[in-house]
Amino acid sequence: MKGIDFYLESNRDLWDRLVPIHARSRFYDVDGFRHGDSTLMQLEREEVGDVRDKTLLHLQCHFGLDTLSWGRQGARVTGADFSPAAIDLARALSAELAVPARFLCTNLFDLPAMLADRFDIIFTSYGVLCWLPDLDKWADVVAHFLNPGGFFYIAEGHPLVSVFANESDTKGLQVTGSYFHSPEPTRWKTDVSYADPLTPVNLPSFEWTHSLADILNALIRAGLCVDFFHEFPFSFYQHFPFLVKGGDGYWHLPQGDLIPMTFSLKATKP
Ligand SMILES: C[S@@+](CC[C@H](N)C(=O)[O-])C[C@H]1O[C@@H](n2cnc3c(N)ncnc32)[C@H](O)[C@@H]1O
Repeated sequence: MKGIDFYLESNRDLWDRLVPIHARSRFYDVDGFRHGDSTLMQLEREEVGDVRDKTLLHLQCHFGLDTLSWGRQGARVTGADFSPAAIDLARALSAELAVPARFLCTNLFDLPAMLADRFDIIFTSYGVLCWLPDLDKWADVVAHFLNPGGFFYIAEGHPLVSVFANESDTKGLQVTGSYFHSPEPTRWKTDVSYADPLTPVNLPSFEWTHSLADILNALIRAGLCVDFFHEFPFSFYQHFPFLVKGGDGYWHLPQGDLIPMTFSLKATKP
């Protein structure tokens, strides 16, 4: 058993390694973004709504494409991530494309010590919660940064998918894992990125599972009021090898809508 610092540092090394791979990938399509495309999916665009002139904090912003997409829609944006490579690239893209943004490089749990502002909207999405050991502390960070009346929004992979086997030769839904949180992370070996199956990565990652109850109760305990919670039968990436991409840009089970693979949630600070 290693300590939490070891897990977080290993994960940061992984994300530093993934940034240049992602920046070249078709998945992230940085050239399309340069030419004006938004990287936000229809789901979060519709559910977050009009962001013009709102202050928006994007947690775990990776290299800032979603942050800058909100900026292009008129929000005054701040992105935060613990990967120096990600934040360097986010700042470079902001300057190159003249989309004003502030980017901060820090572990999420240390953000309150380096940022005094409060925000109208806090946004985070797709592949973020599994990197966090402690959702109670995460929810405290969210509540800390919201203005009264401001809201938090998350669109994320549904925790139910983590119970099913997921190897390159997995043929269908087969329960092999636990749904419930374990205080010790699972060690995975990342051979390649979800965004580029051809470039070797070969680094370990340490990831935590959190149930829906963990997520909802952390936000409620931090004082937020849940406005909505939605479940969707599609994934934002090819989570299982047997998923097929739909015309909506999301990945679906070939046999139909059997299980939720994405959830979204909006919660307001009173
Ligand atoms: C899957 S990415 C987020 C993806 C984002 N939706 C996108 O596609 O651009 C997860 C991000 O979480 C960041 N991250 C992981 N653990 C973190 C932590 N403890 N503090 C801050 N950022 C963290 C990683 O550096 C990475 O950029």
